[in-house]
Amino acid sequence: MSNDPFKLNGDDINVDLPVMEGSVGPKVLDIRKLYAQSDMFTFDPGFTSTASCESKITYIDGGKGELLYRGYPIEQLAEHSDYMEVCYLLLFGELPTKEEKEKFSHDITHHTMVHEQLHRFFSGFRRDAHPMAIMVGVVGALAAFYHDSTDINDPHQRMVASYRLIAKIPTIAAMAYKYSVGQPFVYPSNELSYAGNFLNMMFSVPAEPYKMSPTLEKAMDLIFILHADHEQNASTSTVRLAGSSGANPFACIAAGIACLWGPAHGGANEACLNMLEEIGSVVRIPEFVARAKDKNDPFRLMGFGHRVYKNFDPRATVMRDTAHKVLKELGVNDPLFDVAMELEKIALEDPYFIEKKLYPNVDFYSGIILRAMGFPTEMFTVLFALARTSGWIAQWKEMIEDPTQKIGRPRQLYTGATSRDYVPVDKR
Ligand code: SDX
Repeated sequence: MSNDPFKLNGDDINVDLPVMEGSVGPKVLDIRKLYAQSDMFTFDPGFTSTASCESKITYIDGGKGELLYRGYPIEQLAEHSDYMEVCYLLLFGELPTKEEKEKFSHDITHHTMVHEQLHRFFSGFRRDAHPMAIMVGVVGALAAFYHDSTDINDPHQRMVASYRLIAKIPTIAAMAYKYSVGQPFVYPSNELSYAGNFLNMMFSVPAEPYKMSPTLEKAMDLIFILHADHEQNASTSTVRLAGSSGANPFACIAAGIACLWGPAHGGANEACLNMLEEIGSVVRIPEFVARAKDKNDPFRLMGFGHRVYKNFDPRATVMRDTAHKVLKELGVNDPLFDVAMELEKIALEDPYFIEKKLYPNVDFYSGIILRAMGFPTEMFTVLFALARTSGWIAQWKEMIEDPTQKIGRPRQLYTGATSRDYVPVDKR
């Protein structure tokens, strides 16, 4: 396909649509002038064929099962990097030098505490509130505490808000868990790693020292890396759209958390574990596979399928290997892991899943690992939101710094009633 303009000709319509080419991936038709020149909109519910923005952050090739953060393959980052370095990479576009990384980690570490009055927020929630409901509320309310970093037109305030969100999200996530189990909140500990500090805030108790497992600390950091960013998915698009109105970054990230909660998106890890528990044993797998294939049954295999990956989700592959390591290290023989592996095997050999190009996604194995690490199922999506905050912030920053940025305002195909006169109630 050449880069010559795409010609759209019809009843007295002659529109030249410029073709734009990125560094890799599909070319795009620039339709920004289409409505002005043709009085027509494009129609693409679910945005299956729409590029909403130009970005330099994450690239996905669904056919190859390729995921790059700023050009670096996820497999290489998973093997050689850590989450703090990946946060820096996503935010600033390059891997940090040793000094840059030390300063970034130091700055994030020294923003991990939250305002002491924030502790009182939690007592307003029921103890059995879903932690994602708490996360949406508390993260959104950070704007009520940090007025000095809500001016999105001030680059310094944008940077402070970005660091505060990346630093405080683990503290708030751990507080949501501690509140649900009636244990005291644990303050951040500056000599621990980002992942280690989170595990300590989650699982340590005042009554005894917390024994950190290096394997679990590494697995936690790896899970954060794998979930950090993923191009223009539903929650990232929500953050961008909210940010396009000039909303403060705390409100934008709260909007992203709300969107991620859905079972078709980040909520799939919790839904997948619940599904594996409902299946219970490998003998019942055929029954559920049949339900997933039944057009009249709304049931879908949670953790399977993806809008972009039509081959395999590279994150699922890394996650499966990590699951093996964590279960072995913990000496956990989780029957659900056997169910998950057998389900994957059966589904990948089933003509329906082959034809629909349905493969395990990032959410399929993550729940197995998180459960083995001691996280309750309700916390799974909270961990996804924790890790994705760095990607959401990087995407929000890129949008705000884009000189062509304007408020997002899609149109529609209207099929409702045309103009008609009001009818008094006694004449209806
Ligand atoms: C995430 O976008 C991202 O990048 C998201 C994410 C990220 O990092 O941000 O990767 C994280 O959200 C991963 C996806 C987690 N969700 C799930 O695991 C829930 C189960 N999966 C499905 O709901 C579905 O696969 C989606 C939502 C993930 C993708 O939906 P699409 O691309 O809109 O696909 P579709 O619904 O159009 O499905 C295509 C066909 C349909 O059949 P037909 O209508 O063509 O006959 O495949 C079928 C679907 O019925 N199908 C499934 C299925 N997923 C799709 N059938 C059974 N089980 C499934 N899981």
